[in-house]
Amino acid sequence: MQIEAAMETAFNEQMTREFASAYVYTAMAGWLHAEGFPGAGSWMEAQAAEEHAHAMRFFRFVLDRGGRVALGQIAAPPATYESILDVFERALEHERAISAAIKELYALAMEHSDYASVPLLDWFVNEQVEEEATVSQIVDDLRRAATHPQTLLLLDRELGARSSPGATG
Ligand SMILES: [Fe+2]
Ligand SMILES: [Fe+2]
Repeated sequence: MQIEAAMETAFNEQMTREFASAYVYTAMAGWLHAEGFPGAGSWMEAQAAEEHAHAMRFFRFVLDRGGRVALGQIAAPPATYESILDVFERALEHERAISAAIKELYALAMEHSDYASVPLLDWFVNEQVEEEATVSQIVDDLRRAATHPQTLLLLDRELGARSSPGATG
């Protein structure tokens, strides 16, 4: 099922966005570790690895459909953040933007009757629902923990537990 040029371009753009996600989450992980949040830092590292895997799904798909890989530019993410809450609020905002991009990609696939893309895009739609729910819950927890250092410490330990294989989507 040879990929159409418009779909090839759109998939390459999404591939770049997934790599950009990995890039921004790596920056966040660095800040979290340096600020003394090892649990949240390793959670973000796992998140970055997952985003890299997402990019590679598109990479494989474009090649399997006879397309060419063409990566775009990635802007430097911020190196500093206001707080751990600020980090996760930005992560949530980022995931929402990615969800919107997946939605557009889906709409484009429908416009081009590109049914071969549907299973992959369905997977990403489900993944985005999960991602937004997970990060949104962490934001809620962090808001509650903001004035309780003990709770924040426990929350960081809890986030650190994610690193076990299979814990990520
Ligand atoms: Fe992703
Ligand atoms: Fe994501």
